[in-house]
Amino acid sequence: DEHLTDDDLLRDPVDRIVEVGGKRHPSIPLPEDLFMPQRKNSQGLDLEDWRVLKRVTEGIDERADIGPEPEAVTDVAPLLDQAAAAFPHWSALPIEERAACLDRLADIYEERRGELMALAVHEANKTIPDALAEVREAIDFCRYYAAEARDKLVPQELPGPTGEANILRMEGRGVWCCISPWNFPLAIFTGQVAAALVTGNTVIAKPAPQTPRIAAAAVRLAHAAGIPADALILCPGGPETGAALTGDPRVAGVAFTGSTATAKAIARSLLDDENRPIVPLIAETGGVNTMIVDSTALPEQVVADVITSAFGSAGQRCSALRLLLVQEEVAERMIAMLSGAMDGLVVGDPSDPKTDVGPVIDDAAYEKLMGHRAAMEDRWLKTLEVPAEGRFVPPTLIRLDSMDDLNTEWFGPLLHVATWKSGKLEETVSRINAKGFGLTMGLHSRIARASELVEARAHVGNLYVNRSMIGAIVGSQPFGGEGLSGTGPKAGGPHYLPRFCAERVTSIDT
Ligand code: NAD
Ligand code: ALA
Repeated sequence: DEHLTDDDLLRDPVDRIVEVGGKRHPSIPLPEDLFMPQRKNSQGLDLEDWRVLKRVTEGIDERADIGPEPEAVTDVAPLLDQAAAAFPHWSALPIEERAACLDRLADIYEERRGELMALAVHEANKTIPDALAEVREAIDFCRYYAAEARDKLVPQELPGPTGEANILRMEGRGVWCCISPWNFPLAIFTGQVAAALVTGNTVIAKPAPQTPRIAAAAVRLAHAAGIPADALILCPGGPETGAALTGDPRVAGVAFTGSTATAKAIARSLLDDENRPIVPLIAETGGVNTMIVDSTALPEQVVADVITSAFGSAGQRCSALRLLLVQEEVAERMIAMLSGAMDGLVVGDPSDPKTDVGPVIDDAAYEKLMGHRAAMEDRWLKTLEVPAEGRFVPPTLIRLDSMDDLNTEWFGPLLHVATWKSGKLEETVSRINAKGFGLTMGLHSRIARASELVEARAHVGNLYVNRSMIGAIVGSQPFGGEGLSGTGPKAGGPHYLPRFCAERVTSIDT
């Protein structure tokens, strides 16, 4: 490796791995000369660069003790009282003070990156590149929302013909309840909490029951960054705890990320009590995400992007590819190439840097996915051998007779494949829209008109053309869907913070 000196490696091995993986988060600038794209595994790791990998994995293994699980909360009322009592003080702080807390939290996350990565690997089964991306995204959310708050939340005097002074203020609403999933246990947890806090709300944060430790670490670090203990309160627990929170009339807003079914249950619970104020719900859910490939696409690029999108993170991303639609004429060749590429996937221990696909999150997920896979056995085009011990779902390619046959999100490394007919692109997009989800969609085509048509017709939050369908970057690729996939607004986008605010106008006759 003629580009790197030992000093380069010692300075920041983690950054280098990310650069090799081709992901550029804005959080930490990366020197151009560290780019070295050859000899990657499917996640972009250079397997021969042991000096780098060894340092990163050792750094993680040293901190493998993930500590005791925080106890689930059974009575949420005292926490709500506490957060409500903290609201007047926190909401009255200057925006700059709240934003500065987020910037400090980003700095602390950077300093404690190794420990946070260790938690992500050991508690959530994240592979090492995924664990790193997780911490980076959390840092990006903090810095982005701090900057957005400084820019967007300051009171504005509005122009107009009234001859009065009209001042628009964006203020906190009260106690926000943030409910997050296990698959981004630091990034999504932090993103929700950071947005709710910086807009002047106090927060009760309920992490997924599968990943409470990393959430507890995040909250401890947030307190160390200057956020008062009563303004951000961790509330570990499962669905019952979540339901108790959203059912309480003291909650002034809910930010939820998880399944469509839970989003609907929360929406119903917010309307249960006739005397309760009407409060906002920001829900980000799943999708039956589809990629369309036409005969002009570059097969090697398609295969690489499909592997990343469908099997990366063991398919446990809301953005992941679930349904691959290949134009009939090129389907056979594309499937053969894809099957071959799947042989290169390493399924195993997530703390091993060679691993591409780790285990799924828990027994329930394992049983559900294996049940669907078994039911489709006569349709397997390809499946992989996996270690016998552990919750490893074999990455599997499943043939469908029709694109209309998949209407459920299977949250794991199972990819369904069907074909579409030349000349039917518009109809194909309509049939995808008809499923009702609207999170991500992919297109691989070298025809500009095809891309324009899909852009005009697809009802999705994030459309990816000639690239993979995962890994949206905060600030550049605001993320979130529509229809059954969520209410919007998009996390990491310019319209997110206002939805956490009460908008108030004062008009003064001057
Ligand atoms: P889930 O809906 O089961 O749980 C999510 C959270 O909601 C957990 O904290 C859970 O304890 C809580 N919860 C469950 N029932 C509740 C209730 N009745 N009231 C209040 N809270 C309740 O989802 P999951 O299995 O943890 O996560 C996977 C799902 O999340 C997938 O569908 C995935 O697509 C989706 N997801 C979406 C995004 C996005 O940004 N759109 C990101 C990540 C995950
Ligand atoms: N934001 C995550 C992604 O884009 C879910 O993959």
